[in-house]
Amino acid sequence: MSDRYIDFANSSIGHRLVGALGLPAPTRLERWQAGRLRPVEGALLIGGGPLAKHVSTFANRLTDAIYSYGTEPSRATAWIPGHGPKLKAVVFDASDLLHTDQLKQLREFFQPLMKNLDHCAHLVILGRDPQSLSDPFAASAQRALEGFSRSLAKELRSGGTLQLIHVGEGAESQLEGPLRFFLSPKSAFVSGQVIRLNPCSTPVSDWTRPLAGRKALVTGAARGIGAAIAETLARDGADIILLDVPPARTDLDALAARLGGRSITLDICTEDAAAQLIEQLPDGLDIVVHNAGITRDKTLANMTPEYWDAVLAVNLNAPQVLTKALLDSGTLHDNGRVVLLASISGIAGNRGQTNYAASKAGLIGLAQAWAPLLQKRGISINAVAPGFIETQMTAHIPFGLREAGRRMSALGQGGLPQDVAEAVAWLVQPGTGAFTGQALRVCGQSVLGA
Ligand SMILES: NC(=O)c1ccc[n+]([C@@H]2O[C@H](COP(=O)([O-])OP(=O)(O)OC[C@H]3O[C@@H](n4cnc5c(N)ncnc54)[C@H](O)[C@@H]3O)[C@@H](O)[C@H]2O)c1
Repeated sequence: MSDRYIDFANSSIGHRLVGALGLPAPTRLERWQAGRLRPVEGALLIGGGPLAKHVSTFANRLTDAIYSYGTEPSRATAWIPGHGPKLKAVVFDASDLLHTDQLKQLREFFQPLMKNLDHCAHLVILGRDPQSLSDPFAASAQRALEGFSRSLAKELRSGGTLQLIHVGEGAESQLEGPLRFFLSPKSAFVSGQVIRLNPCSTPVSDWTRPLAGRKALVTGAARGIGAAIAETLARDGADIILLDVPPARTDLDALAARLGGRSITLDICTEDAAAQLIEQLPDGLDIVVHNAGITRDKTLANMTPEYWDAVLAVNLNAPQVLTKALLDSGTLHDNGRVVLLASISGIAGNRGQTNYAASKAGLIGLAQAWAPLLQKRGISINAVAPGFIETQMTAHIPFGLREAGRRMSALGQGGLPQDVAEAVAWLVQPGTGAFTGQALRVCGQSVLGA
């Protein structure tokens, strides 16, 4: 369902009216277009501590316009506030800010930038996980970065986003993958996130087709977010197997044909679903995306056993049972990737969704619990928690709630299925073994559960 308010707010009359009435003025977000090669089309500014130098070593693969600010002279052109170009992307290394006094460097670096950001600029701050630091003052300074980055993300205008990446010891060499995602329009609807990056030994060899040669299963792929995930993984080179319930066969087959993939019609809740699936996957799999999900909303006072059971069965029990079976049978190869579609309802809770939120929180718990056990096989497992995404599922929400869901985020709008799909496509790349056991929110920095 399209968001007519964005069209109105971006029309010439609407823009003036919205401004005069002090109404939210969401920007039309820039998204990744087919054929684009560079993650950053415009000026990339790099500054801060020692990791900035490391980023400079591959920055020419991100853009051809690299600038430095507030650092020792480097090969990059010095950016001068008020004279330099508008900035499309910014990376600031704050990993060496280890005392309260040093935190002023954040203000000194970012303040001059704020009025010089381009439309839909993407900012990244690099830091260290406070829990990895034994000095309490250093840990406190690094924790301060969280409050700073989440607040600054809310102050960005014109579709800007900002994330904080905690770079683990030895994970410096993994930075190109996350920066390609977080500095580009692929992360248009991700903002205010704090993620951890660990070392990982499997690199991406071809950034234009990072999933080439990998077999990917996407459940619930006939429509909505699942269809977008299948398209995006196919774009990135994966061989796609699309799964959905038998009544969705026509749509599923049409999409599979378009993507050159294969379809499987199966209800993932049937007792022999795991056995049937394994039988249909004799060559095994590298990627599993558990996207199939349903809602049956009622307040708990009115919740029927059927509503409760159906949601827990599709959303939580089936991904648990299928993942275990795929692992135990060896169908999911070593260095595999598992992504579970959770929801910000599972983080924040939502009235009328006790069943749904329980199922989605359970998926986040599953990723956290399984990640350390699967690490020795090089398998990563993560949850993606979408906020309000424009699909048939959200089109059924009553008008008032739907509008609230759209506007209650820093970006003031709902996301598109493509936004969730881009996050999944990044998480299943070979190099993202560096990222596991985490929940990545794709919610435009929704106020829910922030
Ligand atoms: N749309 C949103 O705003 C939003 C927000 C947060 C999370 N999510 C989650 O993202 C996922 C996709 O959401 P969507 O909006 O695209 O939903 P959707 O209803 O448009 O699509 C879900 C798909 O799952 C399939 N499915 C349902 N039960 C199945 C079963 N038993 N076996 C196999 N397939 C089954 C459906 O046939 C459908 O094709 C869901 O897990 C949902 O909970 C969506």
